Amino acid sequence: MGAKVYYRGLLEFSNRCRSDCYYCGIRKSNSKVERYTLSEEEIVAVALRCAEEGYGSLMLQSGERRDEAFIASLERVVRRIKAETRSAALPNGLGLSLCVGEQSREVYERLRAAGAHRYLLRIETSSPEIFARLHPRGQSFAERVACIDTLSDLGYLVGTGVMIGLPGQTVDDLADDILFFRDHRIDMVGMGPYIPHADTPMAGCAAEYAKRKREQLHLTLKMIAAVRLALPDVNIAATTALQAIHPFGREWGIRFGANIVMPLVTPASVRKSYRLYDGKPCLDDAPGACLGCLSDRVVMTGRKVGVNEWGDAPHWMHSREAP
Ligand code: 5AD
Repeated sequence: MGAKVYYRGLLEFSNRCRSDCYYCGIRKSNSKVERYTLSEEEIVAVALRCAEEGYGSLMLQSGERRDEAFIASLERVVRRIKAETRSAALPNGLGLSLCVGEQSREVYERLRAAGAHRYLLRIETSSPEIFARLHPRGQSFAERVACIDTLSDLGYLVGTGVMIGLPGQTVDDLADDILFFRDHRIDMVGMGPYIPHADTPMAGCAAEYAKRKREQLHLTLKMIAAVRLALPDVNIAATTALQAIHPFGREWGIRFGANIVMPLVTPASVRKSYRLYDGKPCLDDAPGACLGCLSDRVVMTGRKVGVNEWGDAPHWMHSREAP
């Protein structure tokens, strides 16, 4: 995939969520979380700053909501970002990725038409049995898979991924995860260690996690390497969770085959309210600090940042029309 590492500025624009995943810190039932949603103005302002600073791409991530007010607002934001971030350096504006959960085909179509061309929806695990243990009955594995396939049909550049080190997950399960990525035409893979959150039903995993942290880090890095070998032309993210497990986790991720990093661009005032797992890094950084810090980190690995470039996966460009 060459020397370049591409950025996706990560904007966690709302932590309101209708889902109740047993591992996740912002699950609906966690009443300790202060809920927030950034205004359209705030979101567009962050996007403009990212465009000016050379990020090339932005990822809009939130908890899952399906009400029309949420979808219509997101649609407007996507249109505005695509229109307002065009410049000589970015003739097609910021590359936009969305990560807002399971939606109907019609909603995915609307958001694609508004200008988002990438979508991240993790399968979490390709094992239906493990998936069922991690989610309440209303959240089904089959529906998650159907959403991923719909996104692909609609021409999105589709990202998925799994958590590594889940209770009961074996190396065979992880191998099956890679086959899942292959069989579902996945263009982008984001994987990270599972990290327990104290205010979730899986908080009891914390002791075991503390004992096996190093092993988890190694397993995640080996997964990145294995995916890179099995699927040479997909994008692979060195995720924030990797850095949460080790101070240089993301650098290791890049060395093992990742080519995407996601600098946090969420305003500092709400960062602490978007905690999916304990020990999330960068919570106290000043806005913009993540850019310089990450550039240094990328350079330390001997690679360079693709400034003002979208860096779409060749896997997608080979298989579909450009946006
Ligand atoms: N540990 C690691 N990753 C987590 N995610 C959610 N909760 C955790 C956790 N406790 C991941 C899920 C989700 C993504 C946005 O964050 O894989 O899809």
